[in-house]
Parts: sequence; C-alpha cells; structure tokens
Amino acid sequence: MSREHEIPAQRTASYEADPEQVRRVLLLYSGGLDTSVMLKWIGDSYGAEVVCLTVNLGQPGEDYEVIRAKALQLGALECHVVDAREQFAREHLVPAIKANAMYGSGYPLFTALGRPLIAKLAVEQARASGCDTIAHGCTGKGNDQVRIEATIATLAPELKVIAPVRSWQMGREEEIAYAHEHGIPVKSSQGTEGGAPYSIDDNLWGRSSEGRWIEDLAHAPEDDVFQLVTRPELAPQEAQTVTIDFERGVPVALDGEPLGLVELIERCAAIAARHGVGIIDHIEDRIVGLKVRDVYEAPAAAVILLAHQELERLVCTIHQNQFKPELDRQWAYLVYAGLWWEPLRGDLDAYMERVNEQVSGSIGVKLYKGHARVVARSSPNAVYDAALASFSQSGGLFSQAASPGFIELFSLQSRMAWRLRNR
Ligand code: ARG
Repeated sequence: MSREHEIPAQRTASYEADPEQVRRVLLLYSGGLDTSVMLKWIGDSYGAEVVCLTVNLGQPGEDYEVIRAKALQLGALECHVVDAREQFAREHLVPAIKANAMYGSGYPLFTALGRPLIAKLAVEQARASGCDTIAHGCTGKGNDQVRIEATIATLAPELKVIAPVRSWQMGREEEIAYAHEHGIPVKSSQGTEGGAPYSIDDNLWGRSSEGRWIEDLAHAPEDDVFQLVTRPELAPQEAQTVTIDFERGVPVALDGEPLGLVELIERCAAIAARHGVGIIDHIEDRIVGLKVRDVYEAPAAAVILLAHQELERLVCTIHQNQFKPELDRQWAYLVYAGLWWEPLRGDLDAYMERVNEQVSGSIGVKLYKGHARVVARSSPNAVYDAALASFSQSGGLFSQAASPGFIELFSLQSRMAWRLRNR
C-alpha cells in the first residue's frame, strides 16, 4: 500500500483515536464500497478487530442479510443489524413533525434526524461488543461527520473515533483498485463504466442525491436521479386526496384507517411518490461552510408536514402562529447542525409538546402531478366559528359596531408617526 493511504500522524481533536490504542473498532457499515473497503483497511492499517453495525431506518430496497453476510465474509468479527424504524419514527420524526422541521427552503432533515440515532446505536453496540473506537464513512466536507462525532463525543467520552475517508486520500479509482486487490465485491453501478454513481442517503423520511451533474448548478435534474418519486409528468392524470388524522400532533390514521407510525409514513410515501409529490431541488448552506446543491425526494414529509402545519395553524391563536415558526426554524437549525443533544433542543421540544396538545383533527391533502394542496380541515380544537367568520349579521362574540373603535386605537401610533414624518 502506498504511503498516502496510511493512518494520519496528526490528531486534532481529543476524541480522535491514537493508532496505538485501537484494538477493536465498531464500524458503521452500509454494505457499500466505502465502508467495505474500510472494513479491510482498518484491519490492515490498525491491526484491529472490526465489529460491524448496520442500522435499518427504513431505507427502501435494502437486503440486510446480504449486508451481514458480506461483512462477515470480509472478516468482521460480528455484524449486527438493528431495525430502528420504530424508534426513529417515535423519537426523531415525531418531534420533527411537531416542530414542522424544515431547513433552508425545503429540506425536511431526514438525514440530519437519522444520524444522531445511528451514532447513539453505535455507542451502545460499541460498549456491548467491547470496542474502544467507532469508525464511520463520512467525508471531511459534509454535515454527517459533525452529527455523528458530536453525538459520540457527547454520549461516550471514553470512545474514540476514526473517519478513514477523511484521511486515506483514496479516490474512487483507488478504492475500486483496493477492493479488487482485497477480494471485495464491487457492484457494476459502483464501477467506472457509467461514471461515478450519485451519492445517496435515505431513510423513512426521504432520500437525497448528490454528486455528478448535481454539482453543476445550471444543470436541470436528469430523469435517472428520481428513484423514489414518480416524475410529475408521468404521474396519474387523476388527482387523489389523502386524509391524515392527528392526535396531539402525531399522525395516527391515513384515509380513516388507524396505522402505526412506520406503516403510516411508508404508505403515505408510496401514495405521494406515485403522484410525483416531494421533489426538492435545493441549494443548502452546510454547517462546515460549503454551499451545495442536493436533490431530495421526500414524499411522506411533503404531505405530513403540510398537513400538520395546517392543522396547527387552525388550532393556534394569531399570537402562537406568529411566534412558533421562529422556534421551528431554530429547532431545524440545531438538528441540521448536529446538535441533537443540545439542551436548547429539549427546551424547544417542551414548547412544541405544549402547543401540540391541541393539534388533533384531520386534514385532507389533494395530490396531483407533483403538487400537494390542503383541501379539507376539521378539528374539535379549531379556533374557528363558521357563524362568526361568515359575512352575515353581527352577533355572538363579534360586534361589527365595535370595529371602528378598534381601528382607531389599533392604528393610533402608526397614524401619529406617519403624520410626524410627513410634516
Ligand atoms: N445535505 C443533507 C444533509 O446535510 C443530506 C446529506 C446526505 N448525506 C450523505 N452522506 N449522502 O443533511
């Protein structure tokens, strides 16, 4: 192996592993090229044992038995597969829904929500398997390294971290060569024939694609990037309305059928995807300073967040509705930035919980060729009175005769200031 593939001599952070001390490594293993090369590379470079952990957060089309077999075949001491879909939905997606979580102008944070859970499960497995170090496949340019390492350093100060992709300076070609040399199977889609594949990350809540032409901001999306959502031009000619029921901010039924969270999200995703809903072509400010472009497909989030937000607005007052989006934005920023364990998130969650006590009812969303639009609402807690809102007679709580007095006082300061400034 050439020199530049060796372990870096210098360590910057307290939690970075000292190569001399690394005996057994918990590797966050996806079964893909990077982490498969990593499995071998850690064994060779550190002389360490490798325990693999693969976390199922609902990424579609994954065969976990194949992944496990591959890890063991490549020499892993153990390979654990954890189905964390329920926990992900309950502990990460529900708070996100209650906070209408969206970063920038449309990223529903699926990756950012998943990373702290993956890292927490890695800590638990590392402790259970007697590992001293956790390895992950994140690059040095993304947000994911921040989310994973901040979680490990927070929850397990005794564990160290290695991030081989950040230091081994292997390009794609070299990784493939390394794989061939070490008997690591390489899928043809990972080979060089069709150029590099997109960099994909996905879970229950959505899917991201990066790389290739996506890095050219002027390049409109090519059709082959959409593997989850039907392209709107191919979506059905007939619109479909889905109804989502919420109880205290949590989605509990789809089209009247009560469902567990994971199943509800999966079914909602399938319906929305069929109608081309949930595509986002996003320019994003990463936490490490870079501005990048991502193509997202987040069909379930597109519908559920829209419905939740609508219902929340219906049951809240004007003052709550003015205030909460500020906190929602702060919540999304913290989570995007990898600060899942920051106390401020807990503080914000307490507010989200309190507001969501009222968020019960149902919302109908009409899906048609890439669009989702709220068309029906109902809630026992709606701060709404059809009789008051209608154009007909005064009565009950509302007196039209009181309006001129209200307007006079409400506009008082603005009128005075206008006069002063236009003397
Ligand atoms: N830009 C998104 C984020 O920072 C998606 C990242 C996807 N991660 C990946 N390793 N492909 O959350």
